[in-house]
Amino acid sequence: MIITSKSCRDKLYGRMFFFKKNTIMTNENLQRMMVQLSALDKEPYVELPNYDNFKNHSKESEVLINQNRRQLEKFKFFINSFDFLNDSQIYGDYLEFGIHKARTFKMALSCAKFYNINDISFHAFDSFEGLPDFGDTLIKQWSPNELCTTVDKFMSLIKDHGLYLDKINCHKGFYKDSLNNELKASFQNRKAMMITVDCDFYYSAVSVFEFIEPFLQHGTVIYLDDVFAGFTKSSMGGTLQAFREFEDKSSFNFIPHQHIGWWGRSFIASKLVNPSNK
Ligand SMILES: C[S@@+](CC[C@H](N)C(=O)[O-])C[C@H]1O[C@@H](n2cnc3c(N)ncnc32)[C@H](O)[C@@H]1O
Repeated sequence: MIITSKSCRDKLYGRMFFFKKNTIMTNENLQRMMVQLSALDKEPYVELPNYDNFKNHSKESEVLINQNRRQLEKFKFFINSFDFLNDSQIYGDYLEFGIHKARTFKMALSCAKFYNINDISFHAFDSFEGLPDFGDTLIKQWSPNELCTTVDKFMSLIKDHGLYLDKINCHKGFYKDSLNNELKASFQNRKAMMITVDCDFYYSAVSVFEFIEPFLQHGTVIYLDDVFAGFTKSSMGGTLQAFREFEDKSSFNFIPHQHIGWWGRSFIASKLVNPSNK
């Protein structure tokens, strides 16, 4: 959230204090400097937080400011992607693998509504029990069952958002079992306009890429959220490696498209560019 005016700011802080009494979530100036960035007309030509600006800094304000930056970047990416899709008249369903708090899912709902797209369904694929246990936690916040959002919780987030309530489909289960041929057949050859892969792990992404080929069309946007997240030696190369293996097998070529912060990349499926490769 960009805090642009005093009334917005008051509303935001009012809400924060309502939920977290007595916790100073952030220093307003620090938030402005790290999220909005300001140019200066003298050295160092950009406004940098100094000693005073860090006086109220805490773990909570670090998380809040990081989330501000990350979600802004993602929303900008979704706006650009739907602009591209609308401009090229590429239509179909929205598929997301890795739902958790439905932040990116709701971005897709908002962007589809902006372009008034009606012939669309939204598909949420998740265990709804949190992360699977692959026997190696990679990074601390990716322990088994972390990032759990139940179907009920997800649906209440979606109801609060209020968009496309009759077009949302939940597919519950760990991908290794749930992304099977029966589920694939139930889509009856519907195509996807956009596919978000936000499931952190190499093995999760392998299951996703084994599933999605029939949904692709020329122009489908694929968003890989975790290209550089969880970048450890034991990650098996993460979701990017799974994507590379899929690229070799797919009948499509994938054109690199947008950069999303330091963590994500998007690609556009193409039947035309580099046809000699396939
Ligand atoms: C980082 S969170 C997704 C964040 C979400 N896109 C958002 O914007 O709030 C990762 C999600 O992937 C799901 N997930 C990861 N691997 C999975 C698997 N193999 N099967 C089912 N769900 C999986 C987890 O349950 C979790 O909800």
